[in-house]
Amino acid sequence: MPKKLTSEFNQQTQPVRKHKVFNNWDIVTKGWYVACESSELKSGKVLSTYLNGQKLVLWRTKDGVACTDGFCPHMGVDLAIGKVVDEKLQCFFHHWQFDKGANCVHIPCGEEVPKNLKFNSYATEEKYGHIWVWPEAQTEEAVLDIPGLEGHELIYKADKAYERTCHYHITMINGIDPQHLRTVHNISIDMDIDIDETKSNHIEFTLNGKFPKATLQERMGKFLLGESYSYSMKYADGCLAALTMLRGAKLFNKYALPELKMLFAYSLVEEGKILVRPIFVNKKSKGIFAPFFNFFKLFMTKRFFKMLQGEDGMVYENIRFNTTAFLKLDAPVVKYISYLNRLEDSSWSRPSK
Ligand code: FES
Ligand SMILES: [Fe+2]
Repeated sequence: MPKKLTSEFNQQTQPVRKHKVFNNWDIVTKGWYVACESSELKSGKVLSTYLNGQKLVLWRTKDGVACTDGFCPHMGVDLAIGKVVDEKLQCFFHHWQFDKGANCVHIPCGEEVPKNLKFNSYATEEKYGHIWVWPEAQTEEAVLDIPGLEGHELIYKADKAYERTCHYHITMINGIDPQHLRTVHNISIDMDIDIDETKSNHIEFTLNGKFPKATLQERMGKFLLGESYSYSMKYADGCLAALTMLRGAKLFNKYALPELKMLFAYSLVEEGKILVRPIFVNKKSKGIFAPFFNFFKLFMTKRFFKMLQGEDGMVYENIRFNTTAFLKLDAPVVKYISYLNRLEDSSWSRPSK
């Protein structure tokens, strides 16, 4: 048994169709990618990170986090061994200094800055306890607001990041693949699916259905949460997904329950391997019992996530995703793939092999 089933296997008998963006390891779409947790970047220190095939460095300035390419544009020294001097990044070797826009602003030995320095900066944002990087210097786009949480004070907690051996475009399908909801999760697929594509780089699926009464799990669901269930998945830029569970749910059909929300932030590790960062997010409760409610909401989100993940996580190891045999029922997946293929690629994409 080989250690890893690479794309070379079954190439003659089961070739994979190459898409413009979907499941294409050469493409990095414009979008927000997590570089690290906020607490990992200490003030005055330089942090090295690997993201989507790039080695980057990060440091803090008065007006936010700076992020540039990871090698000095002079002779290519690793900038992670440099230091922060007056909010500039100083290379260890010849002490050239760079500002947050990746401009060389000081050369101690006095000569002029060469004109053709190839060195880039990247837009950053701190949100949900993480530092996010955009693969271009400028962006108009903020890190996704989770539907229903816009403008609220938030609580969040990152779960342990994990790797998968398939592209994140494929793992992201999990929430919207109707057939497997029946066969793996025992949920009725007699449901309404509402698709919102009001913004070209976002797509949101809302799924509503009635609990059937066949299994114990279904009868329990119906007893606790009422006749119907609803959840939504919102995708941003093909690399970030917001899941809302228990939409409009009422305990014993009477008491409104808080919606449970989480993000899946994805990035590429290398061809054939991705990193998934789950982040549980909710509205911050106020009042005397707030610490209990806050803990409980994040705890329940984690329980639901672990339950769903445990039921079908193994599907995504060694999957060879095929896009030529869809049924009518797979329409949401088809829609999602065409959304991905419309997204813009970025400066981090590699030339196609
Ligand atoms: S290699 Fe960085 S300043 Fe020379
Ligand atoms: Fe699933």
